[in-house]
Amino acid sequence: MQKILVARPIFPDVIERLKQYFDVDWNQGDVLSAEELKRRLVDKDGALTAGDPVGAEVLAAAPRLRVVSNMAVGYNNFDMAAFNAANVLGTNTPDVLNESTADFGWALMMAAARRIAESEHWLRAGKWQKWAYDGFLGGDIHGSTLGVIGMGRIGQALARRAKGFNMQVIYHNRSRVANEIEAELNAEYVTKQDLLRRADHVVLVLPYTKENHHTIGAAELALMKPSATLTNIARGGIVDDAALVEALRSGQIAAAGLDVFEGEPNLNPDLLSVPNIVLTPHIASATEATRRAMANLAADNLIAGLGEGPRAGRPRNPINAEVIGRARA
Ligand code: GLV
Repeated sequence: MQKILVARPIFPDVIERLKQYFDVDWNQGDVLSAEELKRRLVDKDGALTAGDPVGAEVLAAAPRLRVVSNMAVGYNNFDMAAFNAANVLGTNTPDVLNESTADFGWALMMAAARRIAESEHWLRAGKWQKWAYDGFLGGDIHGSTLGVIGMGRIGQALARRAKGFNMQVIYHNRSRVANEIEAELNAEYVTKQDLLRRADHVVLVLPYTKENHHTIGAAELALMKPSATLTNIARGGIVDDAALVEALRSGQIAAAGLDVFEGEPNLNPDLLSVPNIVLTPHIASATEATRRAMANLAADNLIAGLGEGPRAGRPRNPINAEVIGRARA
């Protein structure tokens, strides 16, 4: 039997499925350090990760490793140049999380715009004495302009929901999406600067890459309306969190919703003292059904990638399909 490492706690029944094909080393404890990950991978043929960094050093320490299956759509934790150099296949879990993640983007955006977290903290603190005409005034969602940065599958699911709120949709993306998609979403392609100037609610749904580092920093926040909100359901590092703190404190923008953070789970402590921000712990895809679908897809990709099961050799979601069938380097 081939040997695999499951680097994180996941649904026990998914582990049982994996055990039908593999000798499974399951880490049910804390996140593995780089050293521990290398030690546990020494004799493994495959691994299932969820955001754990895998680069040249880890691969060098794992000479048998041929497939690493990430239980996430984003795979910025993989150094794909190192994967390609070593002929190691990486896989991810796209699509199954589009709708839940889009739902959550809306929840966070609406919570920020309507000051739900901020007013709830105030209520819990026992400060509510009377109804006030100007208590927690926020910005409207209906009839406003939604600005989506990153018009991939999740961005499109997010934009599709804008119709019911009678919103205007503008978007920016590395490249324009197909005409039919623009027409279906009633979405207008604009420059990033235009989007930031025009949008009432900006939502970030782009992958993290070196080029996307601090896509939103002080200069970009300065273009936004003082009544605007910013929501990040993509990745930490796309927003300059320190610049965001300043923009929220100074009233440069009205409010923000963040599900992802630079250096998470260790947040910039200043974020915690800003009232007009909603903070959630990277849970945009966290519904029972979707996390199950992601875990099962990650397992399927690993099973198929390692040449087992009904799709042996044809995993559904290869990131670097070109290495399939090549000997490990
Ligand atoms: C979660 O952040 C994912 O990339 O799936």
